[in-house]
Amino acid sequence: MNKKFLLLGSGELGKEFVIAAQRIGQTVIAVDSYAGAPAMQVAHGFEVINMLDGAALDAIVAKHRPDFIVPEIEAIRTERFYDYERQGITVVPSAKAANFTMNRKAIRDLATKELGLRTANYRYATSEATLQQAVSEVGMPCVVKPLMSSSGKGQSTIKSEADIARAWQYAMEGSRGDVVEVIVEAFVNFESEITLLTVTQHQGPTLFCPPIGHRQERGDYQESWQPALVNVTALEEAKMMAGKVTEALGGAGIFGVEFFLAKDGVYFSELSPRPHDTGMVTLAGTQNFNEFELHLRAILGLPISGIHLERAGASAVILAHHTGEQPTFSGLAAIASLPKTDFRLFGKPSTRPYRRMGVALCYDDAGTDIASVVERAKEAAAKVTLD
Ligand SMILES: Nc1ncnc2c1ncn2[C@@H]1O[C@H](COP(=O)(O)OP(=O)(O)OP(=O)(O)O)[C@@H](O)[C@H]1O
Ligand SMILES: [Mg+2]
Repeated sequence: MNKKFLLLGSGELGKEFVIAAQRIGQTVIAVDSYAGAPAMQVAHGFEVINMLDGAALDAIVAKHRPDFIVPEIEAIRTERFYDYERQGITVVPSAKAANFTMNRKAIRDLATKELGLRTANYRYATSEATLQQAVSEVGMPCVVKPLMSSSGKGQSTIKSEADIARAWQYAMEGSRGDVVEVIVEAFVNFESEITLLTVTQHQGPTLFCPPIGHRQERGDYQESWQPALVNVTALEEAKMMAGKVTEALGGAGIFGVEFFLAKDGVYFSELSPRPHDTGMVTLAGTQNFNEFELHLRAILGLPISGIHLERAGASAVILAHHTGEQPTFSGLAAIASLPKTDFRLFGKPSTRPYRRMGVALCYDDAGTDIASVVERAKEAAAKVTLD
């Protein structure tokens, strides 16, 4: 079974997906907006296009005639996906999933209004004046996000009236495309947040990975760990919600479903219909299959007999601090000498402040105090510096 995959987005998550696909003899064409992107380095071929340009997307789909289109990012002209489905190409996990999740409004209304999932109270606003109104309705503190953005871009917290004008301005600057609208969410004073990796299958039940805990800063995750300690009731509730939302979106593949765990219960936040960055912890061998292998199996319709925790693990990001080209790294011998530790350097050709360049991966026996594994991952990541 040699299938052809068109991977839309060629970052570090795409790279691991390509490696998983290569290992079982599949063909992958990797696409991104610049040449030399991580996944391109390991793919059979590559294309450089603006993926928000529908005509450019149509052209490469027509050129390569893939069996599967696998989005790795949100910023794609996903409206075109419905047409590709009609042409008989499988969009992973489905055109609807990719299209709904690129816009916070579509996915939030689906989750809340259609499926009745518990989310933070929210409103939308299309101007500074309507933002004022929305804030008065959801109350302060609240979080403002552009409808189209990721990695925390354009996101800020309003604590007092004085923050409103700036929050509107900031959201417009951080908005992808020309959408002039934001979501305003009540601030959830959560105790922790988790990603529940959820695998839907063409044949076979929906499977859940052990929950992953993570810590966010500036809109990007800094450390993630697995298993996260979640009480049984909360975990069952999260699984129920993840099952519902992934079923409504359709298709087969892995989803990263994000939840806030608060004193008063579990809140659905959002989801990615693809491997999740916090799920890189599975590269530490925490599970019998990592999240990329699971995605691949689900896409190909290969049976997944079960998902098991094999070890406790943690990941900690290695970030750049300056703008530059062709980065080199120091401290590799230091991190390599640590026990039960591994790392990835993504091979990104250029740097900018806070760009994720690599990840440290630590593991220990299942059942080990997870906080100590997280601590080791942070220490390991700190050994690696960019020259
Ligand atoms: N309503 C909220 N209450 C409290 N914290 C929030 C709220 N919304 C978002 N956050 C915090 O901000 C982080 C990023 O928010 P969210 O996941 O919605 O944005 P994003 O830009 O889609 O991020 P990413 O693409 O990296 O997942 C969350 O993981 C959480 O830590
Ligand atoms: Mg998120």
